[in-house]
Amino acid sequence: MRTDWKPDGWRSKPIIQMPEYPDQTAVDKVEQELSNYPPLVFAGEARNLKAQLGEVAEGRAFLLQGGDCAESFAEFHPDNIRDTFRVLLQMAVVLTFAGSCPVVKVGRLAGQFAKPRSSGTETIEGVELPSYRGDIINGISFDAAARVPDPERMKRAYSQSAATLNLLRAFAQGGYANLVSVHKWNLDFVRESGAGGRYSELADQIGQALEFMQACGINPADVQQLRGTDFYTSHEALLLGYEQALTRIDSTSGDWYDTSAHMLWVGDRTRQVDGGHVEFLSGIANPIASKVGPSTDTDDLLRLIEKLNPENEAGRLTLISRFGADNVEDHLPRLLRAVKSEGFKVVWSCDPMHGNVMKTSTGYKTRPFDRVMSEVKQFFACHKAEGTYAGGIHLELTGQNVTECTGGVSAVTEEGLASRYHTHCDPRLNADQSIELAFLLAEALKEERDALNIQAAE
Ligand code: PEP
Ligand code: CO
Repeated sequence: MRTDWKPDGWRSKPIIQMPEYPDQTAVDKVEQELSNYPPLVFAGEARNLKAQLGEVAEGRAFLLQGGDCAESFAEFHPDNIRDTFRVLLQMAVVLTFAGSCPVVKVGRLAGQFAKPRSSGTETIEGVELPSYRGDIINGISFDAAARVPDPERMKRAYSQSAATLNLLRAFAQGGYANLVSVHKWNLDFVRESGAGGRYSELADQIGQALEFMQACGINPADVQQLRGTDFYTSHEALLLGYEQALTRIDSTSGDWYDTSAHMLWVGDRTRQVDGGHVEFLSGIANPIASKVGPSTDTDDLLRLIEKLNPENEAGRLTLISRFGADNVEDHLPRLLRAVKSEGFKVVWSCDPMHGNVMKTSTGYKTRPFDRVMSEVKQFFACHKAEGTYAGGIHLELTGQNVTECTGGVSAVTEEGLASRYHTHCDPRLNADQSIELAFLLAEALKEERDALNIQAAE
């Protein structure tokens, strides 16, 4: 790791998207307090995730990352955590089977609170207020007092993250995540969602594989790999004062780790190679990621990779492309080619959400399911054409039955968006839409993995 790096080094770099707190002394006090709180994750876990992402980078595993656009204090409830976790597991089973490869599961959970905004202010009916920047910074309600950044919110976000993570760990290892139950939930989806025969073949095959294992004497309740699962957390490293306060030296390796989550990423707005956010990520030893959008210049991306992964360690860096269904073909091939020709080891993952936001005539931000799927399919097609590996998917989803994205088997219409539109930021796929996406993705993943296996056999 970098020897010249310090957790506060970002403070002397150009930095954008940071809140303007009215009282800096109060901020310093909270950050000081947080720096004495226990770490949320252990460095050894972050290393395990990095090793598993290394397998993804080498084409031997697949990354599934997803969860809320923005976690909120208002939606903090055990059922919400359980349902999002459950959907991710259901998707993972489908993908593991289709790809015949391990699926690395990473939640946008237990810390995904800070939001970058395209404008610093928001105007409604002539009233201009600072934009909402996520519950860790200010309040969503459109009144002047709520929009003032309040450092005390960092402590609440920390405690919500700790409680969320505690429940996720219990679910992952305590028996809830066992393969037989997850498969039963998928059968319920196939039966109840109206998707009918379209997905039943794959679901039946998974059922047969499970029955075969049991007939051979493998009881899922007795086998750790079938009874539980590894599950990791991630969020955007945006509010750097908070991230710095949770950054500690790991006594085992002597390296710095940001212990607020296993994996951290920089967003499309804050990935400037000389900026504060990239400076911060460059010195922590966690696995990290950067979004890659249509404005990404090819040479800038290469410089960014050199800065974030100078030792070219597989699993250290994930690139999350988010172009929008209309822009993938124009941008992804040039970037894949450049990264490949430099021999850089990265995980390529696809975020089909952030480039596909539309506003309806009634004013709702939405994402049509077909456009999301179109970006995913093009992502796989580009990788196939360039001989690179489409290694993962990054989604905004919830286990709740919301109506935020249109389309899918549950056929959410533009008119229907109003009925259960709860997001604190961007529109999320609901449970049925997420599982359907996994079934559709399974086809593309199977094709990719079959081609790899044929190559390996030749
Ligand atoms: C996000 O992931 O919530 C986000 C804001 O994405 P992007 O930086 O790609 O716009
Ligand atoms: Co978002």
